[in-house]
Amino acid sequence: MKALITAGGRATRLRPITYTINKHLIPLANKPMIFYAIEKLAAVGVKEIGISMNPGETELQKAVGDGARWGVSITYIEQKGGPLGIAHVVNNAKDFLGDEPFIFYLGDNIVLGSLKRFVEKFEQEKLNCVLALSKVKDPQRFGVPHIENGRIVRVDEKPSDPKSDYAVTGIYVYDKTFFEAFTHIKPSPRGEYEISDIHTWLIENGKAVGYEEITGWWKDTGKPEDLLEGNQLLLNEMADGGREGAEVDPTAVIQGKVSIGKGTVIGQKVLIRGPVVIGENCKIENSYIGPYTSIGRGVEIYNTEIEHTVVFENVDINCSKRIVDSLIGANATISSAHATLPLGHKLVVGDNAIVEI
Ligand code: DAU
Repeated sequence: MKALITAGGRATRLRPITYTINKHLIPLANKPMIFYAIEKLAAVGVKEIGISMNPGETELQKAVGDGARWGVSITYIEQKGGPLGIAHVVNNAKDFLGDEPFIFYLGDNIVLGSLKRFVEKFEQEKLNCVLALSKVKDPQRFGVPHIENGRIVRVDEKPSDPKSDYAVTGIYVYDKTFFEAFTHIKPSPRGEYEISDIHTWLIENGKAVGYEEITGWWKDTGKPEDLLEGNQLLLNEMADGGREGAEVDPTAVIQGKVSIGKGTVIGQKVLIRGPVVIGENCKIENSYIGPYTSIGRGVEIYNTEIEHTVVFENVDINCSKRIVDSLIGANATISSAHATLPLGHKLVVGDNAIVEI
């Protein structure tokens, strides 16, 4: 089977982070988000993956490459006309996908466990489409299935009055009837070709649409706390990390699952309480790094406590404070207000940033 991953869209709710980085490249547990999608697909034997992106995109190709490191081949596909909806992403990739069944994966979804059972269900029950459902607290933010007698009879996109407490997650298996359905749908009031309209059309026109329930699914919604939740989910899953090539001072205390990258120096008076991942070539001294923290490569942290935070690469922190529940973008500096006069907080804050002092 081929697979298609989304990596376009607007990501306006994740600004200012997404002013400078494609949302799908945001590091979670120190890996670009889209890598998890590629890994999941490679693990079920997919060899050819299309990645759909906005016209003019260049960073994604640099970060992801040709797929060789996962044993797959990657084709980049520009979404002609820009982000016109998720169903449009698939139709736009018709030449790449051809006539054979395929997996469609929204690149901002994180799923724990294998995709195998979705593919098996599709094949064994000879379905036209398989949907992965997950129970959620806020179904009105998703595509919501209306289920009667164990069968989906309709899917509503972001309904104000949801007919179930399930979300249709961003993992789908289709056959070529998708393209037939696409010719019958129109853009929604928000101007997008909705994937939920495809599903409703398939059901109403007698195609076989099955579903499987999943747990451990995460979907970012654009708020920093949601990204932190994704990071947390992935750190929990991480194998007990290695420390090869790292230098750890004998006075440092390391508890729980902690992975430390090559060339990193953990100096004196450091307590690290996992799950934590620290990238290559970092320096940490006289600091506490608490659970659910990911630290990118080239980061320096002195005299600081950090917990439940994602630190991107090449950040400098030395502030004698406790930082929690934060996202800190690449090359940022956080220093003590007491280092220079006047003593007040001195901020250079990008557009749409959120600072809680
Ligand atoms: O995550 C599951 C939900 O994803 C489903 O429950 C909804 O039915 C489905 O419509 C979708 O909802 P969102 O509105 O949250 O989708 P979002 O705009 O976040 O886009 C999902 C992915 O597709 C993301 O990787 C960005 C990408 N995208 C989005 C659009 C609209 C594109 O590549 N091109 C696009 O035109």
